Amino acid sequence: MAIERTLSIIKPDAVAKNVIGQIYSRFEGAGLKIVAARMTQLSRAEAEGFYAVHAARPFFKDLVDFMVSGPVMITVLEGENAIAAHRDLMGATDPKKAEKGTIRADFADSIDANAVHGSDAAETAAVEIAYYFPALNVYSR
Ligand code: TYD
Repeated sequence: MAIERTLSIIKPDAVAKNVIGQIYSRFEGAGLKIVAARMTQLSRAEAEGFYAVHAARPFFKDLVDFMVSGPVMITVLEGENAIAAHRDLMGATDPKKAEKGTIRADFADSIDANAVHGSDAAETAAVEIAYYFPALNVYSR
């Protein structure tokens, strides 16, 4: 089992619902440890840069509008197979399709306001962690 780090964002809808603690309890219950954290209001440039891979998609503008609509909680989580473990806890992108008991099934209202973000692979985790926590050395533990 590999010890990994992943980037987790509690999106504006979940921050507004006041469920940060409930979501972090799930991470802790699954053995994921918070090793860095930052609460912030993203600028448009930050949100556009973070989701640059989706820039040509029809939902891009709505996604950026949503991500800058209120504060977000950004954390780096560490643990065994943290990337997949975190995505399992999140559930499918569309909360209607998310498995019962996942964060998106329990807290998200729609595919565009879906409560959480999690890195999807080791390469993207490294890039995303460096994007929000440039001073954090991904490779030193
Ligand atoms: P994606 O990386 O495909 O999903 P995930 O967050 O599960 O890794 O998409 C990024 C975000 O873009 C997603 O969380 C919500 C938004 N999105 C839409 O609004 N509509 C869509 O059809 C898709 C695929 C994503």
